[in-house]
Amino acid sequence: MATLETTVNGVRFPNPFVIASGPPGTNAKVVGKAYDEGWGAVVTKTASLDASKVINVAPRYGRLRGDNGEIYGWENIELISTLSFEQWLDDFKRIKDQYPDKVLIASIMEEYSKDAWFEIVQRTEATGVDILELNMSCPHGLPERKMGSAMGEDPEILEEVCGWVMEAATKPVWAKKTPNVTRVEDPGRAILRAGCDGVSLINTIRSVIGVDLDTLRPMPTVEGYSTPGGYSCKAVKPIALRMVMETATLIRDEFSGQTVSGIGGIESGSDAAEFMLLGADTVQVCTGVMKHGYGLVKTMEEGLLAFMEKHGFQTLDDFKGKALPYFTTHSELVRMQAEAKARAKAAAAAKRGVTQDEGWDADAFVKQSEELAGN
Ligand SMILES: Cc1cc2nc3c(=O)[nH]c(=O)nc-3n(C[C@H](O)[C@H](O)[C@H](O)COP(=O)(O)O)c2cc1C
Repeated sequence: MATLETTVNGVRFPNPFVIASGPPGTNAKVVGKAYDEGWGAVVTKTASLDASKVINVAPRYGRLRGDNGEIYGWENIELISTLSFEQWLDDFKRIKDQYPDKVLIASIMEEYSKDAWFEIVQRTEATGVDILELNMSCPHGLPERKMGSAMGEDPEILEEVCGWVMEAATKPVWAKKTPNVTRVEDPGRAILRAGCDGVSLINTIRSVIGVDLDTLRPMPTVEGYSTPGGYSCKAVKPIALRMVMETATLIRDEFSGQTVSGIGGIESGSDAAEFMLLGADTVQVCTGVMKHGYGLVKTMEEGLLAFMEKHGFQTLDDFKGKALPYFTTHSELVRMQAEAKARAKAAAAAKRGVTQDEGWDADAFVKQSEELAGN
């Protein structure tokens, strides 16, 4: 019987389906709902030491729909958690007491200060959370305070800050990486060199969701103005798959033992299978839950188990990274295709029989004669 249970960085997950940091993990009540519905783990909404600096606006979401009305793109200009750090510490303890077998992952973010990072890591760990996820990637609002993707886009600072965290932490640490860079390997290498246990990716892609053609103002429009936000949902999945593939390849080739949590447009068991075939150990979902509700995990479980059954896989490890060896360079694709065409041509020629007298072979004489016979 196939199982979805998995162990990642020494932590046992009942299944690989993780709520990504955002509204679906924004307080103890909704985290409890996620576990009750069957999610294996929750990454909570990103907490910081001083939530009084976090002020949200409304509207703060903008959506793109296809011709059939389905939402496939979602922009947000939401900041990190507005709950006080003390409130989060209470919530972490309460959640762990109530759900000891579920995995609780605390997302944290701080300014460029070693003391601040030490404090947030040590106080968060003391509540009993299982894993820390460092938000090095929020692309809007926070970078104005040199946080989030302002750190994540600079490999030197990223390595330094992740190094501080690894000095202070005793639990596994995942660093959440920004997609808003040209070469995703550079921040990846910085995170892995600093010794983080895992990489989560992707956070949202910096975007402008559109312009209102009645008011002529950019959206989401707040008091007539807007600011670029972060893009998520189905539309980002191909970009996330590429970046997960590149990060998993980097770990395979230059590091060992570190894990990948794939994020971006995941809404089904098939989406999860694709991310895992490219090297993800777990998958995270944010916008999918905002669209479909917490019950989505049930169809995801069914879909992933059906995929495993079809291929005879018993565990997630049976297919993790199985598609990775099949990436190569474009020139190699050209070479392989030319070879395949030459092989096909030779086979077709052989089928047509001897065309030149030099082709007659004493040992195959009768067979060659038959091949040339019309009846
Ligand atoms: C409304 C909203 C709020 C988010 N807030 C956070 C956050 O506080 N911390 C964080 O690390 N990522 C945050 N994210 C990013 C998501 O965790 C995720 O990386 C991204 O949305 C891509 O996944 P998805 O397509 O499943 O939503 C947020 C995303 C959305 C849509």
